Amino acid sequence: MNLQQVLKDKITYIDQAMNIYLPKEDYLQKEIFDAMSYSIFAGGKRLRPILLLAATEFVGGNIEEALPFACAVEMIHTYSLIHDDLPAMDNDDFRRGKPTNHKVYGEGMAILAGDALLNYAFELMIEGALKNKEDVYKKVLATKEISTAAGVYGMIGGQVVDLLSENKKIDEETLNFIHKNKTAALIIASIRAGAILGGADDEELSSLTDFSKNIGLGFQITDDILDIIGDEKKLGKKIGSDQQNHKATYPSIHGLEASIQKVQQLFENSIHSIEKFGEKSEFFMALSDFLVKRDY
Ligand code: IPE
Ligand code: IPE
Ligand code: MG
Ligand code: MG
Ligand code: MG
Repeated sequence: MNLQQVLKDKITYIDQAMNIYLPKEDYLQKEIFDAMSYSIFAGGKRLRPILLLAATEFVGGNIEEALPFACAVEMIHTYSLIHDDLPAMDNDDFRRGKPTNHKVYGEGMAILAGDALLNYAFELMIEGALKNKEDVYKKVLATKEISTAAGVYGMIGGQVVDLLSENKKIDEETLNFIHKNKTAALIIASIRAGAILGGADDEELSSLTDFSKNIGLGFQITDDILDIIGDEKKLGKKIGSDQQNHKATYPSIHGLEASIQKVQQLFENSIHSIEKFGEKSEFFMALSDFLVKRDY
């Protein structure tokens, strides 16, 4: 499999839908439409929508039906990045290779653009759920996965403890709480929601959940590692942000070498949870292999 080409095609497919879904009418509030589009189309790996659609495909579901949910997850993720970059949070000036949203539109508009993307994601999922009566239950179930993962028992919860842990020495349990919630939760929800939408059976859902937990945690540890040794051009964001903000990260607590080993172990575990499915795991296995080595 030519993974790079496959990923490129998936991004094009997602971006075409995103372009249709995003609001763009020329009303008085047009500034917010521009601010929303700016961050969405600034770039980004589109990992979460790719995972969601791949999970739907894995279980033999209809990816067109899952598309609004995939775009919704990316909107929620993008909102979290806009707010994460604000001066009151990580105070970062670059994201996805461009000036951060507040640098272009101002802090007030950046806050609103984040809020707008979050709300719009739910508008999209509800619309998707109401499209045909037979699918309402599983679509509400998928919405529940995503909403919980984005909230105080997920991403927001993790961001809260991330902020509270600045300038502090924290224990292993707190570090894992931060990483599992601020980042892994939405990655896990993307895969679970995609699988639920596609009509997964219990074994598929449980194996894909194991897979997603491993790559979810591994993904944030790699993010921490790249904040130290990454290439700013490739990453599209400034490195050294964690040290500047005295963040609790995997390398700050365990050191770089142990963090790299932990990532390798997590991605190996991820492969073990799905290899029994044979050929249909090919994409997830290749993706896991790409993520363990990623440098952007
Ligand atoms: C960055 O996420 C923030 C984390 C949760 C680690 P990504 O690395 O997925 O960022 P984009 O979407 O590609 O810009
Ligand atoms: C962010 O973690 C997680 C989010 C929920 C946005 P980071 O603060 O480490 O993400 P980057 O490094 O700014 O992308
Ligand atoms: Mg942060
Ligand atoms: Mg940050
Ligand atoms: Mg980071």
